[in-house]
Order: sequence, then C-alpha cells, then structure tokens
Amino acid sequence: MATNAKTILCLPGDGIGPEVMRETRRVLDWLGKKRKVAFEVSEALVGGCALDKEGAPISEATMKTALSVDAVLFGAVGGPKWDPNPFNMKPERGLLRLRKDMDLFANLRPATVFDALAEASTLKLDVVKGIDVMVLRELTGGVYFGEPRGITTLPNGERKGVNTQVYTTSEIIRIAEVGFELARKRRKKVHSVEKSNVMESGVLWREEVQKLHDAKYPDVELHHMLADNCAMQLVRNPRQFDVIVTDNLFGDMLSDVASMLTGSLGMLPSASLGAADKYGRRKALYEPVHGSAPDIAGKDAANPLATILSAAMMLRYSFDLPAEADMVEGAVKSVLDGGMRTADIMQPGKAKVSTTVMGDAVIRELDKLVA
Ligand code: IPM
Ligand code: MG
Repeated sequence: MATNAKTILCLPGDGIGPEVMRETRRVLDWLGKKRKVAFEVSEALVGGCALDKEGAPISEATMKTALSVDAVLFGAVGGPKWDPNPFNMKPERGLLRLRKDMDLFANLRPATVFDALAEASTLKLDVVKGIDVMVLRELTGGVYFGEPRGITTLPNGERKGVNTQVYTTSEIIRIAEVGFELARKRRKKVHSVEKSNVMESGVLWREEVQKLHDAKYPDVELHHMLADNCAMQLVRNPRQFDVIVTDNLFGDMLSDVASMLTGSLGMLPSASLGAADKYGRRKALYEPVHGSAPDIAGKDAANPLATILSAAMMLRYSFDLPAEADMVEGAVKSVLDGGMRTADIMQPGKAKVSTTVMGDAVIRELDKLVA
C-alpha cells in the first residue's frame, strides 16, 4: 500500500452497525478501484461486541489505533443485551471515550431534505421542503462530562443522582468559532442556543458568543435563542435556520428534532472534529446520527445511506476530496430519485429494498458516473 494512503479505522459496533458499515466499505472499495484513492482500512470492535469479546466498551489497542489514523468511521453501539450493565460497562462508553480522548469537540449534524423524500417527513411538505440546517453540537463538555457526577446515598437513605453542567470560556469560544466559520461558507446566519433564563452556564455561553461575534464575525447574522423555543421553532419554521450552535445536551436533542424534519434518521450523517494541528489536520470521527436499531438488526432491513453519507463527509472534511464526496452524494440522490426505499423511508408506490440492494444501487449509480 502506498505510504500516502489515507488510513481509516472502521468501527461497525452493534445492532445494524455491521450491516450499514458493510455497504459503506463497498463504496470505499469502489473509490479505491475506480478513482484510485488509496485507503488503508482496518476494522475493530466497539460497544457491546467489544464488551463481549474484549471485556471493555473499547480496548486500549483500538483506542491507540483510533488516535493514530486519519479518520474513524463509526457505525452504532448498544442494545438490550447490555442495558443492565453498570454505567462504565455500557456500550455507549466506547463512543464517549472516543469523543473525549480524541478531543472531538465539534459535532456537525447537517439536516437537509432530499427532494425525493420531502413527503416522508411527518411535517407538511411546504414546511420542510428545501431545509438546510447545520446543527453544530459541542461534544466534549457540558453535562455529559461535568464533575461532580454520580449516584450517592444520603444519610437518610435516599439516593441522589448528580450531573454537572459546566462550560469554560475557551470551550465556548472554540465551538462558536467553528459555527461562525461554517456560517461564512453557508448563508451567514448563526443561532446560538442555550437556557440563559435559568442557567449560569447559559448566561456565560450567550455573553461569550456575542463577544466573539462582535470582535471577529460582525458579517455573520447572530441570534440568541432559548433551547426550548428552538425545539419549537424547528418544527414550526425550520427554514429560518442556517447554523445552530449549541451545547452537548441541547445539541443531542435538537439534532434529533432536526433530523426528523428530513423524513428519516436513517438518512443523516455526522462529523465530529477536533482542533486543527499545525498542518491544518483535525482528528475526526464520522458516524450516522441513527442508533443501533436492535429491533431490525441482522435482518438486512437497515438504511445504509446515513453511513454512506458520513463517508462522503469524511472525503470532504478529512481527505479534501470534494469531487469524490460529490459523486457519493450524487449517487445517493439518484438512487432515491429512482424510487428505491429501505423500510424506514418507504413511501406508497416506491420499491422497498434491503440494505444490500440499497448498497448495490449506490454502486450501480457510481458506476454510471465513470462509464
Ligand atoms: C448521539 C447519541 C449518543 C449521545 C449516545 C449513544 C451516547 O444519542 O450521538 O446523539 O447521547 O451523544
Ligand atoms: Mg442522540
């Protein structure tokens, strides 16, 4: 393999993860063969399968590889089998450790509607048509990681659960900077979202974002919005949004809301990025927004498009291969325009297909592009 090969660690994980990853790897193989992009792909365990086989939600060896590759491509983790596990032995800890140890503070969750799917949204067509929202979620701070945390027993025998919402100025500034930079390449509008009406961390968030805006990004339109209102506005009039910058927990929830506007969670990719090093390279992990969907795992019924689109984001953000990213995204669009649907995006009059057949169709569309 050429020494300048781009190194990718695939972590399929649990549930439908292995199925959607299998189809995505076919796309990478295709790019290697037909576009001569040199990838060096390795695969390892994460989540419940790692707990079963290696005794931890992610092994030290896998962590080491994740920290050394150019990009990590992640499937999904979790399932009922591991629900009773103690907190530190839950499959999700594998993902949270990757985010934390790779310092992936910026989570990009684009929600765009494919025209062919606009009618699959539970919202009215005229509300969702043409939406293009980027939810930028802070991913390594806030209540997910704040200390103190834990469950203790009080002297009176009651139990107490504690988590801490905490943000420092530097954490707020670095995520807001990414938000303003993204907005400059889009429609130049940022909504900064917090709960400054009830939380001091929200007051600080609002003040720091405003200061940064005034000092460095006066050309970008900035709005502050409370998180509950933002959830409501997302379903009322999503087209008002361009970039939404928000904390870890609000971002978790708002990105689920934004994703459903598009008709299916099964369509949405994401990128989690670290800070740029002196060569401009960032640590990066790409993953579909959907979860492991244990109810349909192993049935060849899952939608592989979110993971395939996550790989397209990897081509764009980590490998600077915009032409190849366009090809993959274009192939997905053509497949949808042609009427193929996995169960999650099935519509009357369309052809319901399996994970594998959907993968076949993407490859076929890619083949047409080089024929
Ligand atoms: C997400 C998921 C994760 C989160 C879980 C699986 C830990 O919901 O990526 O949105 O809460 O961050
Ligand atoms: Mg979530």
